[in-house]
Amino acid sequence: MNPAMLIPLAEPLPIPSVWFDVLLIVTFAAHILFMNALVGSAAIGLVRMLRGNDKVAHDVGQKLPPLLALTINMGVAPLLFLQVNYGHFDYVSSVLMGGWWLGVIAALMLSYYGFYAYKFGYETMGQGKRNTLFLISLAGLLYVGFMLSNNMTLMIRPEAWTRYFTEGTDILNLDDPMLYPRFLHFMVGAVAIGGIFIALLGQWRKDDEHVDVGMTWFLRATLINLGVGMWYLMSLPGDMILNFMGRNLPATMTLIVSMGSAAFLIWAGIRKSPTQAAIWASTTVFFMACTRHWVRAFHLEPYFKIETTPVTYQYSSFYLFLGFLIVGLAGIGYMLKLYFKATNGTKGRI
Ligand code: HEM
Repeated sequence: MNPAMLIPLAEPLPIPSVWFDVLLIVTFAAHILFMNALVGSAAIGLVRMLRGNDKVAHDVGQKLPPLLALTINMGVAPLLFLQVNYGHFDYVSSVLMGGWWLGVIAALMLSYYGFYAYKFGYETMGQGKRNTLFLISLAGLLYVGFMLSNNMTLMIRPEAWTRYFTEGTDILNLDDPMLYPRFLHFMVGAVAIGGIFIALLGQWRKDDEHVDVGMTWFLRATLINLGVGMWYLMSLPGDMILNFMGRNLPATMTLIVSMGSAAFLIWAGIRKSPTQAAIWASTTVFFMACTRHWVRAFHLEPYFKIETTPVTYQYSSFYLFLGFLIVGLAGIGYMLKLYFKATNGTKGRI
């Protein structure tokens, strides 16, 4: 079967696709930063808790339910922009994943419940129950992340879609060599930025132990991630690697700028400066998101070029959207201010 036959027709766009691509990359980077703070700080908290020190777990545990809510909210925006430009790929991969994909909702609810139960039941439950709740909730998040990596890699491989007909059941993208280093790159990155989150929390509360623990985890995870990132690059098809090695200048420049930003990030880590590390981490995640966007474009090239989608040039709904975006961002800024003000989640307002 020719896999191109399985790709639905692209719907016309109201405004040029570049607007949606930019919004997709920016909101995706924001989503990943929140996801990193959530997954990374929970993982570090769990490891330290299992080693007999539950101070980090207790403190980040107060922040995890709102962080989970923010991660989900920040995931909705890129999901919408993704569907506008690439819906005819993403919808298909979601449907082919079937039950695996729907399982994301159950896993999210489980994690949410677990983190809430930990936060509000902390005083009344024993250490064993706390460990179990953290472990199950984190496992739920890892499931969600792994399913997203499956979906995002399956959508750019229409040649793998035909397996659905030969296997006769919901499929994942497990035979793609890119999947594992890509997922690991995201998760090790999460531990690094989770470390920065703990360090920022410590800086805010003048708790040197948190700053020290956070920055140590950050630096080690980032150094490991240099190796994982290299593995990810090498797992791409040979042609694509060449694109990042000079054949495609904008793609090569994007990767170089990402790596340059990562170098500043490591420097901020060595200097143990949480604020500078947070700034460089945000910049690095943004440029890495741009690099990842190139990976998607290169994979889709044989089937689809976004420039070929028809445009109707109707800007009115776009202006309305921009208005709501500005008001929404101001609201989020205010919520974050309250969030960091809350010295203790149970006493704080959020
Ligand atoms: C809270 C648990 C979540 C975790 C751990 C998580 C993790 C991830 C990861 C690792 C990726 C990158 C996958 C890859 O490219 O290989 C990703 C992408 C994405 N996530 Fe999340 N996510 C979570 C929740 C959500 C939710 C609830 C939504 C939607 C409402 C969402 C929307 C997205 C979208 C749309 C992308 C891809 C954007 C793009 O391709 O540019 N995520 N997420």
